[in-house]
Order: sequence, then C-alpha cells, then structure tokens
Amino acid sequence: MSVLIKNGTIVNADQSFQADVLCADGKIQEIGSNISAPSGAEIIDAAGQYVMPGGIDPHTHMQLPFMGTVASEDFYTGTAAGLAGGTTMIIDFVIPAPQQNIMEAYHQWREWSQKAVADYSFHVAITWWDETVHADMQTLVEKYGVNSFKHFMAYKGAIMATDEILVNSFNRALELGAICTVHAENGDMVAQLQNKIFEMGITGPEGHPLSRPPEVEGEAASRAISIANVYGVPLYVVHVSTKQSLEAITRARNAGQKVFGEVLAGHLLIDESVYLDKNFESAAAHVMSPPFRAKEHQDALWKGILSGNLQTTATDHACFCNDQKAAGKDDFRITPNGTAGIENRMEVLWHHGVNTGLFNMNEFVKLTSTNAAQIFNIYPRKGTISVGADADIVVWDPEATKTISAKTHHQNIDFNIFEGMKVKGCASHTISAAKVVYANGELKVERGAGKYIDRPAYASFYQGLDVQAEINKPKSVNR
Ligand code: URP
Ligand code: ZN
Ligand code: ZN
Repeated sequence: MSVLIKNGTIVNADQSFQADVLCADGKIQEIGSNISAPSGAEIIDAAGQYVMPGGIDPHTHMQLPFMGTVASEDFYTGTAAGLAGGTTMIIDFVIPAPQQNIMEAYHQWREWSQKAVADYSFHVAITWWDETVHADMQTLVEKYGVNSFKHFMAYKGAIMATDEILVNSFNRALELGAICTVHAENGDMVAQLQNKIFEMGITGPEGHPLSRPPEVEGEAASRAISIANVYGVPLYVVHVSTKQSLEAITRARNAGQKVFGEVLAGHLLIDESVYLDKNFESAAAHVMSPPFRAKEHQDALWKGILSGNLQTTATDHACFCNDQKAAGKDDFRITPNGTAGIENRMEVLWHHGVNTGLFNMNEFVKLTSTNAAQIFNIYPRKGTISVGADADIVVWDPEATKTISAKTHHQNIDFNIFEGMKVKGCASHTISAAKVVYANGELKVERGAGKYIDRPAYASFYQGLDVQAEINKPKSVNR
C-alpha cells in the first residue's frame, strides 16, 4: 500500500518547491512532477497546501510517574494527539527514581512505549551517581541508541542532579559522544523560596511563580553552561523561559561554545497572570516548571528564535487532570507540575510565527522538525522531505481555521492552556511511516505502530578538556 501526495508545495528547511511525493514501505520513495499512482495507492490532493516534514517534539512526558501521581496521557493517546496536530515523532524521557538502576528504568519506559502510534526515542535522566550509572551510560549509548542525557537541576529531594552528579555525568557523556541536556532551575533556591512563601501564608497557585523567579533559572543555566564549557561537552537547555537564561546561552554561543536552547510553545504565548486566576482549577492547571513568565520574557524568547539562539520548539507535554492538580489545593508545593500541548504546538507556532511574518515557512520547518533532527542526530532520516527519509509528513492547510478547546482536542486531559485561541493554518493530513494516520479531523491509528528510533552517538567533534596538555602548558608567574 502506498500514498501519493499530489499537487502540493514541499517545504523543507532549505527550500520550497512544487512536486508530488510517493511514499511506501515506511519511506519516501520518489519526489517529482506528475508521479503516476501505483495501483491501490491512496491519493491526497494537496493543491494549495504545504507538504512538510512531520513535527518532532523533543520534550514530552507520556505516562510520567511524578509528584505522587502518573501523567494522564500515555504513549498511545499522546502520540495519537501529536499526529492530529502534525507531530510524527517525540523524544520522551526515561527518569529513574534515585538509586533505581537506570537500565531497569530504561526497560520500564520501553515497555510503556510499546503502545505508541508514532515514532519515539528517549533521553535518559541521570538522577544519581555510582559506578553502575557510569557503566550503564555506555550501554545506553552503544547498545540502545541513546545519545542524550538529561539533568534536572530542580526538584530537590526527588530527581535533582547536584553539581557533583552534573560533573560526573557531563564528563562521562563527553567520553561517549553524547549530548547533555538540563532543566535549569536552582533546586536549592526553589525549595527554600517555596517554604518561605508558604510560611508567609501564600498557599495557592500564585505562590508557584513567586518561588521560581527568573534569576533562579538564569543562575542554573549559567552554571550548567560553565560546567559544560570546562569539559567541552555540548549542552542543550530545555524549556528556556527567561531572558536571563537566554542571555547565558547567547553569550556562550557567541564565545564559540556548543550550546542549544529549546523553547516551549506555552512559554511563548502564555504569561504569568494565569496564576492569579481566582478559579483554582484554571490557575493550578497552569502550574508547570519553569512557570509562565512576565511578558518581557516572552518578547525575549521570540527574539531568541529570530536570532537563532533558540533552535527548537517543544511542549514539555506532561498532562495532569483537574482531579490530580487538586492535590495542591492547600499547598502549591505539591501540585503536580506539568501542562499539555503536543497537539497544538505546530498550529500555534504557525499562527503566531508565520502568519504574523515573524518567520517564514522554511524557518517554521527548522523550528518544529529539522533542527531537532539535526541536534539529536537523526537527520536526514527525520526532519526532511527527501527520497530515502522516513515518510513522516504533515500536509498543512494554510487556510484552515480552528478554535482550540479541551472539548475537541484529542489529548487525554480536561484542560487546554490554549483554550479559545483561534488559529489559521492546521494539519489536514498526517502521514506516519507511509500511512495516512490523520485525515480531515479523523485519526486512523494503529496501537503499537510507532517505532523506537535509535539515535547514534556523535562524531568526534567533541574536544574535551585535555588535562595533560593543560598541565604541560608553560606557566607564567606573576611577581
Ligand atoms: O512542569 C513540568 N515541566 N513538568 C514536567 C517535568 C519537567 O520539569 O520537565
Ligand atoms: Zn523540566
Ligand atoms: Zn519536561
């Protein structure tokens, strides 16, 4: 069975052109003019539409066990919701509990993800350290195609990575040719501020952003960047939400350091006023970390995209329903942190980025797909419409309109942070592994059809700190 997409305009990161696309056996087989349909082919007439690489969301948390509960969206519902919005691949996170064997955690997540309907891969979090973790990192890179390790600098008393863990893990990642990623918030400061604010009598969701001011993120981003610089390991800062951390990334990049920044669709479009909503359910539904910020930070983040200092867009899709958020009714510190967005990321970015003229369609493709594929070393298998690439494609109707709502979305959560937002430009069809899985509002997914995607280690552009060369350097002595 094959799929022929006719009469559309292909939009890649580097160029746009009119051509038909023939997909079969999971791959793009042919790109050209007037391709004739093989017998039995499903034909999509994409006249007036754009044919783009399927979105890659490099930051999701399906079925995440977190803060005393488990995220309501699992790998089946979450990847299906992604397909409905044009996202054809996720990179999720294996997060071992402290002292949990990391291979055991990895296999646990692999089991949970068997039901995915779209392709997926895993970053693995380093939440503790000993010789087994050191050895298991190598197994993950060499045997299981993991090329990125995550470090939560927040969530003290749970999964927080101390400086000692960062130092050990960054050094090990460098040896293995892997990239390090960080959730940059100073967890000691957050814990101290949370308690202080709670003791002042601020117990509701409005306490959440107060306990995580922008400087807390800026400090952690700067520290992670400095540590990465000493070792010479590439660093990817997830969910950059403040101008302080963006400035740290920009400074490092200007100095020649290999640092990447990710921004969430939510942080670009939602501001901190949501935490002042008198309706507890709504305010608590927005509790995520880092929190939504003041408008000046949003402006900075859009500029970070335009300047190229932020390269990827993600959602940090971590769904907790109203009844789960209710745990924090009298104590914001225990509200499960997380918000949804996988289904809406591409349309809100198109609407607010392309329709407003901030960036063009090719830049949109970079931001939603190609850059993530390149940074995480799966390009050109993913992230491009090219012969031989995986046939993961979104057909995009620039004239389609919709009003986003929890009542109509496919995400398994009873709240949508973009509720009521009207967008123009949406996925009309999504193709995953050469099969039409979403067409004009209807999902046609197959449980378990998603494949695990190996991400090979990087080539040896890593120039680690050469300790012996440093020792051998002639020393000048100030007298
Ligand atoms: O609030 C969030 N972001 N929850 C998911 C875990 C994380 O920090 O990414
Ligand atoms: Zn995070
Ligand atoms: Zn996250």
